Order: sequence, then C-alpha cells, then structure tokens
Amino acid sequence: MDNKELIRQALEARQMAYAPYSKYKVGAALLTKQGRVYKGCNIENAAYTPSNCAERTAFFKAVSEGERAFEAIAIVGGLQDSPTDYAYPCGVCRQVMMEFCNPEEFRIITAVSEEQYMEQTLAAMLPHGFGPDNIKEQ
Ligand code: THU
Repeated sequence: MDNKELIRQALEARQMAYAPYSKYKVGAALLTKQGRVYKGCNIENAAYTPSNCAERTAFFKAVSEGERAFEAIAIVGGLQDSPTDYAYPCGVCRQVMMEFCNPEEFRIITAVSEEQYMEQTLAAMLPHGFGPDNIKEQ
C-alpha cells in the first residue's frame, strides 16, 4: 500500500475523533506487515486523563486482534476541518510503537494532506529508545 492511501485512511479515521475538549482531532492509520490497516482516532474524556491518542487507539485495536508486526503509521491532526500542519506523535505513543516495532524500519508518516507529508523512522523520532531488547537476558 502506498503512503497516499494510508494517509487517506488516516483522514477518514480523523472524522471519528471524539475531541470535545481540546477540539484537536487526530486520525491514524496503522499498516501491518501483511497489508491490513487498523484505523484509530483520539478519544477524550471529561476527566481528561483517560483520553487516548489516535495512534494508541490504532495500535491497541491491532494488537488486541492478534497483530504483532507493523510496517508504517500515517498520522493527521489539527484544530480545523482539514489539517493545516503536521501532527507529531506524543512521547507516550512513540514508546508504544517502540514495544512492537523495529525502530530502524518502522515508518512514521506525518501528513497535512495526501500530497504533503513527511516520513521518518521511529529511530529518528525516538533516539536511543528503550524497548523489549533492553530487558532481554543475554
Ligand atoms: N493527540 C493524539 O491523538 N495524538 C498525538 O500524537 C498528539 C495528541 C490528541 C490527544 C488529545 O485528544 C488531543 O490530541 C490534544 O492533545
């Protein structure tokens, strides 16, 4: 699947965002190595702290369905009807990615539109990340 199609699905996911407090709507589309896509949106809460980011919604949907191998994630977000700037994954979401992805290979696509996007590896976005390998016995 190409980046454009993954971004299109992230934009679609964003339409489901539940963000009545921040009004900042985020959508994510997570591509598995087998080619399946899991979509996620941010889901806020009146108590604030139980809110969940779009990226983690997508990851937890996928992992709870048995997926463990991921290729890329597309992320779109913003306050307006259409994104006007890049929405970068928060630190907590980067750490969740670190749990399931090879940081040198997993691609994070932050997009404004299907035409305007940037692609970086997880390693670039989370340098010296702490992951499962760090607590493996030698
Ligand atoms: N948010 C995400 O969904 N993903 C991110 O990577 C950054 C922030 C959400 C959380 C909250 O609902 C809103 O955006 C404003 O922070």
